[in-house]
Order: sequence, then C-alpha cells, then structure tokens
Amino acid sequence: MALVGIVAGGIGSRMGADMPKQFLDLCGEPVIIHTIKRFVSHKSVESIIVGVNPNWYDYMKDLIGSNFDGKVYLTTGGQDRNDTITNIIEFAKKNLGAEDNEILITHDAVRPFVSHKMIDDSISAMEYCDICTAAVPATDTVIFSNDGRIASDFPLRKNIFMVQTPQTFRLGNFTDMLKAVTEEEKREVTDACRLFHMNGRRVYMIDGDGTNIKLTYPNDFETAKTILLHNA
Ligand code: CTP
Repeated sequence: MALVGIVAGGIGSRMGADMPKQFLDLCGEPVIIHTIKRFVSHKSVESIIVGVNPNWYDYMKDLIGSNFDGKVYLTTGGQDRNDTITNIIEFAKKNLGAEDNEILITHDAVRPFVSHKMIDDSISAMEYCDICTAAVPATDTVIFSNDGRIASDFPLRKNIFMVQTPQTFRLGNFTDMLKAVTEEEKREVTDACRLFHMNGRRVYMIDGDGTNIKLTYPNDFETAKTILLHNA
C-alpha cells in the first residue's frame, strides 16, 4: 500500500489564466479532479494528500466535498515544490500516523493522465532504489548551452530522457535528503530526483508515457482533450 501526494501549490503563471491551471476545466471537470480519480481507483493507494496553494485551500476543500470516500485529504502547499512535498509528509505523519518507511507517490496535479501501470511500477521499484521517476526517451536532439545561444554540448539523444511524475520514495528518505542539501540547492533544484542524485542516492526510471503530459501552456489543453477523447 502507498500514500499519494498530489502537488498543487503552484499558480500556473505560464498558463496565464485567471486561476491556477489545476482548477481549469478539462471536458467538464477540473484538471485536478481527473488526476485524483486516477489514484482513487487504484487498489494499492491508501490515502491521497493534496498540497494546495494556501489562497485556494477553501476552493479545493469545496471541490473535494464529501467525494472520494474520505480517501482524499488537504494541506497547504509551500513556497516551492519541495516545500509542498514537505508539508504533505508532515500532514501524513501528524494526521495519518505515517511512518518513515512508508511509500509516498508524488505527482503533479497538472498531469491528469497518469496510468495504473505507472503507479504499479513505482511501488515495485521501491524494492531496489531510493527514488524512482517516470521518464520517457527524448524525441528531439538536446543542446546544452550556457548562454541560450551558443551550443556547448550535444548529448547523445539515446542517452537523454525527459522527466515526468510520478516520483516515488519513502517518507524518511526525502526528509533525510533535504537535511543534506543547502537551502540554495533546494530553491534552485525543484526536481526531487535531482536532489536525491546530488545526495548520492540511487535514482531509477520507470516507463512514463507520451500521454502523461504536464499542462503548462494554453495549447496543452487542446492536446489533453484529444487524449481524453481517445480514452487515455
Ligand atoms: N507546485 C507546488 N508547489 C509550488 C510550486 C509548484 O506544488 N510551490 C506544483 C504545481 O502546482 C504543479 C507542479 O508542481 O502541479 C508542477 O509545477 P509547474 O508546472 O511549474 O506549475 P506552476 O508552478 O503552477 O506553473 P508555473 O511555473 O507556470 O507558474
């Protein structure tokens, strides 16, 4: 069994909408409700904790209402993504009696197409790594550049993968890892996997999926509607 932490503390500045993108409508339901439903329907998911932007706490509380059989809990998000995860862990320990060795599957609120296979694979991977992330092979060639104009390196495409979520680890490992990185590293590196790696931990990739998109810009909603129509 596993806990799920849905990170929803952001404001969606790149989307430019009048509310954070996780609350925008996608084919009749807010994006975040699509995301929650993917986890609620999985047999190994014990509880789901949503870390939401404090200004939208009451709004999210109303959205959850009395749905989801009491399986979904709410806490406030933090200043950055890792702070939101920290708040979720604190909530789980304080209110759900969670222990350090429990598995936490973290997932972006704005990736509504996570599959049950990704959830299964994430839980299985906890047998042999400290953190696992969904990832997909890069389809475009990637250029490394220090100034955004002059290319300084062309990594081989076959060795490049694009990081998605879910990202999964045991509660205590995340807390220990955060203690070992500087405040500056924590602010600069929003991806938990990279922080684990910097800390000498074993990062494993499970198969992500091209449909597991992150809604970032307005156009992504057109893609999401197409995916939904084709029953992702
Ligand atoms: N997130 C979070 N807490 C923060 C910042 C981000 O939980 N303080 C979450 C977002 O809500 C989102 C996920 O992290 O579900 C991925 O981040 P991103 O796509 O960058 O979302 P935003 O920060 O909302 O978007 P933007 O960068 O365009 O403002």
